[in-house]
Parts: sequence; structure tokens; C-alpha cells
Amino acid sequence: MNDQLKIIPFKHATSAHYKLLLDADPSKKLVDNYLKRSFNFEAKIGQRLVGVIILIETRPETIEIVNLAVDPSDQKQGIGHRLIQFATHWAIDQAYKVIEIGTGSTGFGQLYLYQKSGFRPYAVDQDFFVRNYSEPIIENNLVLKDMIRLRKFL
Ligand code: ACO
Ligand code: ACO
Repeated sequence: MNDQLKIIPFKHATSAHYKLLLDADPSKKLVDNYLKRSFNFEAKIGQRLVGVIILIETRPETIEIVNLAVDPSDQKQGIGHRLIQFATHWAIDQAYKVIEIGTGSTGFGQLYLYQKSGFRPYAVDQDFFVRNYSEPIIENNLVLKDMIRLRKFL
């Protein structure tokens, strides 16, 4: 099945893209903000959109994955890992030196996936989700407050 997976750039986010984007990041305001200056890639199986990965340059030579999502019916089949591998190779081709990602401290599956993909934690942004989101976010039966920052040197 994954042999049919294609990862390609896209420019304009459709409602199907937004459905995925808001799954990874419930703040439409933040999503719209980074879409103004991001590099966007979509994963497709045939004509079906199954995932997205969005990157922005945060500092010279540093790129950050700000949004990663796979359709719930296609999760746990390696597509998330494939999107991260794709983004890493793309960043190397573009001569970036560091790739970063931030995720909620309660996202144990995501933390597993990112560390398995070679990212290592280097900082905690305390209360990031309290400051930036108006509604409380509950994940794994915990109130999400803090962002774990991870990075990989390329
Ligand atoms: N819980 C437990 N394990 C997980 C989870 C999870 N939520 N997600 C991935 N894994 C594990 C898989 O079991 C797999 O392990 P294995 O290789 O030992 O079998 C490994 O991580 C790789 O998983 P994939 O199948 O490649 O990941 P998937 O295609 O399911 O996509 C993703 C992972 C993108 C996190 C997906 O679960 C998703 O879209 N979640 C909702 C949105 C989200 O949370 N996005 C990340 C927010 S952070 C950000 O966007 C910067
Ligand atoms: N994986 C997943 N969930 C866990 C784990 C684990 N390893 N350990 C505890 N939990 C969850 C339990 O499911 C429970 O959740 P719930 O309340 O939703 O049902 C909750 O955490 C509380 O669990 P307890 O039953 O109170 O914890 P337990 O008596 O199993 O003790 C401990 C946890 C001490 C970590 C035990 O697993 C252990 O001795 N592990 C080996 C030694 C170790 O790792 N110690 C910690 C090292 S760090 C340090 O020592 C400072």
C-alpha cells in the first residue's frame, strides 16, 4: 500500500488540508499564520489526501516542522515516519543544518515517533499551550501545558 504513497508540494490549502492541519494544531489562527510563509507537502495515495507536513525557516540554516498530520484511517502504517524522512532529506537538499519539531509533553506517541526518527529533546517551552490556545487541550487524560522542543542536526 505504501508503495503507492506520493509526497508532493502544494501551495493552497483546501478544506481537506485544513481538516488534517487542525488535527495537529487546533489553532486556525496559528495555522493561517505559518501557512503564509511555509513549505507545504502532501502525502497522497492515488487521488486521496492522506497526510501533510509543513515546514518554516525559523532562523538561518534552521527549519522547523510546524505541522504533521496523517488521516486517522491511515495512521500507524508508517506514513508519519515517511513524511518525516521526506522532510529531513528535503532539508538536507536545501542546505539546512538543523531540523526542529515541537510537540505537547502529553503526546507520548508523537514523542516516540520523533525520537525514533532521530530527533532529541533539547528544551521545554513551559506553558506554551496555555499562552497560545484559548481552550484547554486534553491528551492522554492529561491537561496539555508544556511543549517539548526536539531537534536533529543534519
Ligand atoms: N500513539 C502511539 N504510537 C504512535 C502514535 C500515537 N499517537 N503515533 C505514531 N506512533 C508510533 C507508531 O506505532 C509507529 O511505531 P512502530 O514503528 O514501532 O510501529 C511509529 O510511531 C511510526 O508511526 P507512523 O505510522 O509512521 O505514524 P502515523 O502515520 O500514524 O502518523 C502522526 C503519526 C502524524 C502523529 C499521527 O498520529 C497524527 O496525525 N496524529 C494527529 C495529529 C498530531 O498529533 N500531529 C503531530 C502534532 S505535533 C506537530 O504537528 C509539529
Ligand atoms: N508505562 C505506562 N504507564 C505507566 C508506567 C509505564 N512504565 N508506569 C506507570 N504507569 C501509569 C499507570 O498505568 C497508572 O496509570 P492510571 O492511573 O491511568 O491507571 C499510573 O501511571 C500510576 O501507576 P502506578 O501503578 O502508581 O505505578 P507503579 O506502581 O507501576 O510504579 C514505577 C511506577 C515506579 C515507575 C514502576 O513502573 C517501576 O518501578 N519501574 C522501574 C523503575 C523505574 O523506571 N523507576 C523510575 C525511574 S526515574 C526515578 O527513579 C526518579
